Order: sequence, then C-alpha cells, then structure tokens
Amino acid sequence: MDSLTDWWEEMGVEVDHGLVEAYLAAAATSESPAPQQDAPAAPRRRKPKNWVQEATALAAGCDTLEALKAAIESYDGSPLKAAAQNTVVFDGTPGATLMVIGEGPGAEEDRRGLPFVGRAGQLLDRMLAAIGRTREENVLISNVNYWRPPGNRNPEPEELEVCRPFVERMIELARPKLIVAAGGVPATSLLETSNGIMKLRGTEHVFTTAGGYSIPLIPLLHPAYLLRRPQEKSRAWRDLLLVEKRLRELGG
Ligand code: URA
Repeated sequence: MDSLTDWWEEMGVEVDHGLVEAYLAAAATSESPAPQQDAPAAPRRRKPKNWVQEATALAAGCDTLEALKAAIESYDGSPLKAAAQNTVVFDGTPGATLMVIGEGPGAEEDRRGLPFVGRAGQLLDRMLAAIGRTREENVLISNVNYWRPPGNRNPEPEELEVCRPFVERMIELARPKLIVAAGGVPATSLLETSNGIMKLRGTEHVFTTAGGYSIPLIPLLHPAYLLRRPQEKSRAWRDLLLVEKRLRELGG
C-alpha cells in the first residue's frame, strides 16, 4: 500500500492514511469477488430421473412379451433391484386366456428368476389344476412387482408405481380373457381401491389400462395366506369355480 500512497504524495495528493486503510480493509472483506476471466461455468444441477416416465416409454416401445421381458430386465428404476438376485417377470403360456397376477417374488422366485415357484406357487399350481388349468398349457403368471423386497415385506407404493407401466403393457400384449389377482396387494393396487381382499375376493371387477384396454378381473385369496389358514380354502374353492365359470362364458 505504501508504494501506492508514496506515489500519490509525490504527485502532490494529500493522503489520509487512516481512510485508505479502512477502504482497503473493506475491499478485502467485500462479498462480491473480483470478476474472473474465463472462469469455468458452474456445474449444472442434474434433473432427477423420472423413473415412471422412463418405464412408461420403455413399455410403450415393446410389441412382444419377450421384448417387454428384456425391457423390464434392463430397467433400473426400482429401488428393490440392487438387492435382488433376479428380475422375475413371467412364466407360463403367452397367449393364455387366463392371467394370474401376484404380489412379487419371494426367496425361491428370486433364486430361480420365475414367479410362483415356492410353496405358495406349488399350491397355486394345485388350485389351477383343480379347474383344469396349468401354466404349461393355458395360464400366464406374473406379478405387480418384479424384484424381491427384503425380508419379503409388502412392496411400497413407489415400488409398485414404477412397475405399473410394465404390468399394464404385459396385459395389453398378452390379451388374456380374464385376470386373477392373487392376494390383497395386486387386487388393491390394480383396482386402485382401499377395499380389502376379504371384500374384493370372489367378485368380478374391470381392470382398465392407461391405454384404455379393459378386462375382467377376479381377486382371489393369496395361496400363501391359504397355507397359513387352511380353513379359508373352501372360500378359495368357491372363488375358483367362479373363475372357471367366467372363463367358459368368455370363451376361454
Ligand atoms: N407370491 C407372489 O405373490 N408371487 C410370487 O411370484 C411368489 C409368491
């Protein structure tokens, strides 16, 4: 600073040293930084990815069930995917008149990458056989969530939301004549109702996709629930007879 004020004094300027020091101190603590030339642009904040939108676009681009399966396997929008061993999409017969939609993979399904292959799945197969149906011949089986939740807890609404565009597209591509929702989670989430499974089971509803495709849907008690409460099997049997009757009426 002295060199500056010396020079002023040489030029005949009367210098108030106290004032100059106060000025320089204020400049040093000033909040506005001196402009920089060619400063790098501040990094732009990345927009969070809209995973539902991404699922919708991916699903809409699929024209076959196999393409849809590959799209679901490639999709990273579910927070459940990281901890899952496999993406569990569907099993059974594409083009079947009956489609069963469950809640999501359990431990055995996660290990094998196929829906309903654990104990509950074996009971489901026996229930279907009782009305003359098998996954090998005339049933397509899937879920409303494709990745196993830790500890087999129910999927959270956001976890179901990211799968929904795929579920709807699968229904549009498979074109079954009737859907069975196996258990409360698929029944309430597909029908977007707060009614419980005990109220919904054994009654016919209509499921409509965002694309406007409508199809009859009958909720059934989940086979895992029936394993825990075998006394409820007579109700399940009555509901299965309704499924069979409606399938015959619908030409399936
Ligand atoms: N329970 C379900 O809801 N789905 C499966 O795939 C297996 C068990």
